Amino acid sequence: MGRLLVTGGAGFIGTNFVRLLVDSTDHTVTVLDAMTYAGNANSLADLPANRCRLVIGSVSDAELVDSLVAESDIVVHFAAESHNDNSLRDPSPFIQTNLVGTYVLLEAVRKYGTRYHHISTDEVYGDLELDDPARFTENTPYNPSSPYSSTKAGSDLLVRAWVRSFGVQATISNCSNNYGPYQHIEKFIPRQITNVIDGVRPKLYGAGLNVRDWIHVTDHNLAVLRILEAGRLGETYLIGADGELGNKTVIELILQLMDQPVDAYDHVNDRAGHDMRYAIDSTKLRTELGWEPTYGDFESGLAATIDWYRANEDWWRPVKQATEAKYAAAGQ
Ligand code: NAD
Ligand code: TYD
Repeated sequence: MGRLLVTGGAGFIGTNFVRLLVDSTDHTVTVLDAMTYAGNANSLADLPANRCRLVIGSVSDAELVDSLVAESDIVVHFAAESHNDNSLRDPSPFIQTNLVGTYVLLEAVRKYGTRYHHISTDEVYGDLELDDPARFTENTPYNPSSPYSSTKAGSDLLVRAWVRSFGVQATISNCSNNYGPYQHIEKFIPRQITNVIDGVRPKLYGAGLNVRDWIHVTDHNLAVLRILEAGRLGETYLIGADGELGNKTVIELILQLMDQPVDAYDHVNDRAGHDMRYAIDSTKLRTELGWEPTYGDFESGLAATIDWYRANEDWWRPVKQATEAKYAAAGQ
């Protein structure tokens, strides 16, 4: 049994990770979360206090981070500013949290010799053409497009440098787009689901030809657990479930599953610098660590996600109006 420090554990993927740890392991969890607009304490409120403790504070607070790392066996770093559209409006918190916050954590795990896992994104590799058969691998050169993805790329490079220069015991994973329960409704899939619940037409950026490689959040988190168990220190693992779909197809599927006409959506302003396609080759994770996705079927995972947002309106309703006001100001 170990003591895990999970940063960003009140956000989407972190919450699902903490819930998985409590349900399926004996670990005790300390969540360090700044409770930005993206953190929600209600996501963890029902967990037993002897298994999960929430500390409110920033990963860039060196004194606080030092004290928490000192009492932990493993650190899993999810905390980040995570939304591309926000990074185009104001990059500054992305620099502070994603770059400075990672630096602060690395200095603490270096001091105490603590095992560290770094959660990152496939967006560090830039994008692929629609008609390109290529997919990202661990050897693809970094080529990020947005303030979000460039700060994630920078944080990955800090981890690699701290491994090489200081012998920090770290692994990195770069995952594709996640979907599932507890995702903030600023993101593509829950934004459209909650729009339809509200009788508002879904909003597709530009022509909607952009492709994302969807994975259920539980499959992402099972891969992270597997890397913690058996991953080789210093290595990077790409996580993906062969889930490539165009945005237009995803919106049509949401409308169909929610009993609406499949063309009942609006085209809105495209995102500046919008990446065209992401696609992951997860051969290394599958062959070396024996991980396989458990959600084979995107449509049934999406249907369950729609059910979750229908059943948990109390969770998302308080932020819906403010989230949509930000998009409306950008013509989106
Ligand atoms: P999220 O925005 O839902 O959650 C981020 C959490 O971090 C929030 O609880 C927020 O309060 C917290 N946080 C922000 N700044 C902080 C700070 N300075 N100190 C402490 N906590 C802070 O994000 P998510 O979608 O759950 O993403 C989690 C991680 O996974 C990120 O590192 C992201 O880059 C990565 N990732 C996300 C996806 C995806 O599809 N969502 C895919 C691949 C990788
Ligand atoms: P998003 O969930 O923001 O994830 P990412 O930018 O990390 O891929 O967006 C997923 C895709 O959906 C992306 O191509 C942008 C597009 N999109 C829309 O078409 N409409 C929307 O309302 C949003 C939020 C995103």
